[in-house]
Amino acid sequence: MKGIVLAGGLGTRLNPLTKVTNKHLLPVYDKPMIYYPIQTLVNAGIRDIMVVTGGNNAGDFLCLLGDGREFGLKHVHYTYQEGHGGIAEALGLTRHFAEDDSICVVLGDNIIENNIVDAVKAFEQQQQGAKILLKEVPDPQRFGVPELSGDRIVRIEEKPAQPKSNYAVIGIYLYDSTVYDIVETLRPSGRGELEITDVNNAYIERGQMSYAILNGWWTDAGTFESLLRANNLVAQTGANKLV
Ligand code: DAU
Repeated sequence: MKGIVLAGGLGTRLNPLTKVTNKHLLPVYDKPMIYYPIQTLVNAGIRDIMVVTGGNNAGDFLCLLGDGREFGLKHVHYTYQEGHGGIAEALGLTRHFAEDDSICVVLGDNIIENNIVDAVKAFEQQQQGAKILLKEVPDPQRFGVPELSGDRIVRIEEKPAQPKSNYAVIGIYLYDSTVYDIVETLRPSGRGELEITDVNNAYIERGQMSYAILNGWWTDAGTFESLLRANNLVAQTGANKLV
């Protein structure tokens, strides 16, 4: 399985913090934000990793991460997204890297307390399709929200005004290699982006989507409130624990 960290986009919700640098280079307590999603992949046993960056200061990722030796890696692959065409557009840029392998995609602003080892192992047994992780949150309207029926996801809505559950689809996705064919069928949403929620709904329609509930805390860090929350959570309890 290969790992992908999506660190493109313009981070406009954090202006002026992101006026002269990339959101994922900002500090979260004692490390740059991008360290956390990379560690999530490494802790899951994934060693072949591509970082998709974009916008300003993309070269700084190379200065910061180099060949990845701080994470015990021998090499890090990089690619560049022009503009901010959406999470699924950024994912589509990694097709040549993934080839026929399955992938674990982590959004560059998603931080977890523990690890995803169990979900990755379960997905390896699943052999095809996709697996997503859910977490109960107080503000589901900020996220992709699943409608659940028993142990099945019926559909996911992106930032619904009236959420059909209290769960967020967190920004860690496991896909088989057919994900790239799905990305090619997508059309831009109302906000002009290729949406990862449309990718996930395509797997649901095929009957090939499973899910697990993440244990430990999870947060994004793309708004002032969530960036502060991320800093506090990491300072208080630490992140990426291998318990
Ligand atoms: O954090 C989880 C949520 O992330 C999910 O629940 C939503 O379904 C999903 O759409 C996404 O929502 P956001 O609107 O919060 O995503 P955002 O635009 O903040 O992008 C999250 C990360 O994805 C960002 O840190 C870098 C990457 N990204 C985003 C865009 C728009 C890219 O690499 N390229 C892009 O063009």
